[in-house]
Amino acid sequence: MIVLGIETSCDETGVAVVEDERVRANVLASQTDLHARFGGVVPELASRQHLISLNILLGQALDDAGIALSDIDGVAVTTGPGLIGALLVGVAAAKGFAAVLDVPLIGVNHLEAHVEAAFIEHAGLETPLVALIVSGGHTIIALVPERGRFEVLGQTIDDAAGEAFDKIARYIGLGFPGGPEIDRLAAQGNPAAYAFPRAKMNDPDYDFSYSGLKTAVIRWIREQQETGKDIDGADLAASFQEAVVDVQVAKTMRAAEERGVKTVIIAGGVAANSRLRARMRADGEKRGIDVVSPSPLLCTDNGAMIAAVGVRKLAAGDRTPLDVSASPNLALGA
Ligand code: KG4
Ligand code: ZN
Repeated sequence: MIVLGIETSCDETGVAVVEDERVRANVLASQTDLHARFGGVVPELASRQHLISLNILLGQALDDAGIALSDIDGVAVTTGPGLIGALLVGVAAAKGFAAVLDVPLIGVNHLEAHVEAAFIEHAGLETPLVALIVSGGHTIIALVPERGRFEVLGQTIDDAAGEAFDKIARYIGLGFPGGPEIDRLAAQGNPAAYAFPRAKMNDPDYDFSYSGLKTAVIRWIREQQETGKDIDGADLAASFQEAVVDVQVAKTMRAAEERGVKTVIIAGGVAANSRLRARMRADGEKRGIDVVSPSPLLCTDNGAMIAAVGVRKLAAGDRTPLDVSASPNLALGA
């Protein structure tokens, strides 16, 4: 079964070809440079760029996979959540391909696809498990009783984890997106240099809050500047990152233990963070919990994760009507 996957929910255009469990092509056009000078994603520019990139990527994906359009058995596309205009570009294109090729259309939830990415490289992954989904727009802990089913246990009550990374990076003059920049800078810093708040870390719920951390870091920087004290950028990045990671590790592991599961998936763009990956693995080892994460390129947005959900849903007989629309606020498990 060969499925074409299309991802255009935010600022990465992704097109992939997945055949059963195998990724045959996975190409990406990042719009980072386009949005960088605005310090964040400009929705109108994102839509327009998806439109420009999609056909080029489709040609590349077919070439890489060594297949013709007529070999495709289904077209999977992100229908949400995401930016409405950006989503619509992908959804319209996918409908067109599905109609012309006379193959099923499969609408895919972007958040579900982030979790699915872990299954691409870990075929034997067993459920139930707990998934931490950390991206630019979401921070969610979910129980996954079986592949493709989700019970949301908790989520951020304000900023998403990636958003916190991006905002702090922007404040200290690093590039966009800020997560990878902070990750790099933090590698040379001391995570215990400065003490920043770990909001909700010991609360009994599974929710997160990052806006207080952001404010605390910004206030602290201003104080240092006003009193003429030097700030070590690497120490700052490492200390901020540690505050984010500490809460994520504590809450995810507690969810796994309280729900009695032995496997944790960390997924989404922030799961590419080297410190989060290392800390989660180390903590999991101590507790006898297996920590699985997609390789960094499959953590950030990509078409392969969309196609992978498509393959599973196509096999299960799922079909999406051609009049489906984009759902910018689509919830996990919806
Ligand atoms: O999943 P994703 O590619 O797009 C969304 O669905 O939002 O996630 C993008 C987010 C951005 O906020 C970016 O800064 C963050 O993931 N990110 C990272 C790293 N790589 C990407 N955050 C921390 N460390 C990283 N290495
Ligand atoms: Zn994403």
